[in-house]
Amino acid sequence: MIKQKVFATRARVPEAIKLLQSLFDVEVWHENTPPPKNVLIEKAALCNAIMTEVDDQIDEDILESGKGNLKIIANRAVGYNNINIEAATSHNITITNTPGILAETCADMTFALILSIARKVVFGDRAVRNGEWTVFDQVPYLGTDVYGKKLGIVGLGDIGEKVVKRSIGFEMDVYYHARTEKTELEEKYGVTRLGLDEILSTCDYVSLHVPLNPETEQMISSKELGLMQESSFLINTSRGPIVDLDALNTALTAGQIKGAAIDVTDPEPIPIGHPILKNENIIITPHIASASKATFTAMGVAAANNIIAALQNNTIPSPVN
Ligand code: GLV
Repeated sequence: MIKQKVFATRARVPEAIKLLQSLFDVEVWHENTPPPKNVLIEKAALCNAIMTEVDDQIDEDILESGKGNLKIIANRAVGYNNINIEAATSHNITITNTPGILAETCADMTFALILSIARKVVFGDRAVRNGEWTVFDQVPYLGTDVYGKKLGIVGLGDIGEKVVKRSIGFEMDVYYHARTEKTELEEKYGVTRLGLDEILSTCDYVSLHVPLNPETEQMISSKELGLMQESSFLINTSRGPIVDLDALNTALTAGQIKGAAIDVTDPEPIPIGHPILKNENIIITPHIASASKATFTAMGVAAANNIIAALQNNTIPSPVN
């Protein structure tokens, strides 16, 4: 019997690739960068399933090319802003993501960033390595407390909720901004819903946990940064385009806010010459909030399981369209 064909745009999760190979004819893109568009168009025309990463841009042309034979694109991510969902739906192609796996890992990273920027962990490490720690003097390294402060969570989904859970240990006052009221979470954790402007103007730490869509793109720009306090910090572990990076650079340089810690940028990777990299008051990590070994692997296996279900005509675990 002829096996169904799967194309995986990276070889990064061997457990997922092996699982797919046990059932299908699998072709893997072995380079560490996304396959170019012409390759994706060709594979969409030839394959029954594609496993993608968040930096694979799946547009109308690629989906059009898969019309008829391509059943599923399984994104190894919880976000799926890299895929044109409307076009996929119109061509009868199922798109899946990997929900319910990464929230705890991302919440750990959110707190890692909060603590690192507030307590100058990265700044201090850099000073030690650069030979600047020549006298016992804590003054250049004086940070800001985290415990007992006001935390504003923008987007109270799975990840936001896990951040709230962690904030309890730090005795923080937690406020959230979300389109819908989360009565259950308000009762469970004692969090209070506020408008975005109020979150920005009153919280010591503002942490972003919204998906990227036309409504959230550039949600934080000059006006919003201008509302924040000079002593406050911005944390972004969601998607780069939610924050206007040039506006953030200006706000940091002008001392409008005290610091920022971001795991995502626009573009990604951020060009090494970007002026914001000269700023001492920002920490930038390379989009690794979900990247613990266990979570990374589990997300790969979940994407593979979505493909297996689709190609075997079983119920697909996590479709988004
Ligand atoms: C990571 O960014 C994800 O969306 O899973």
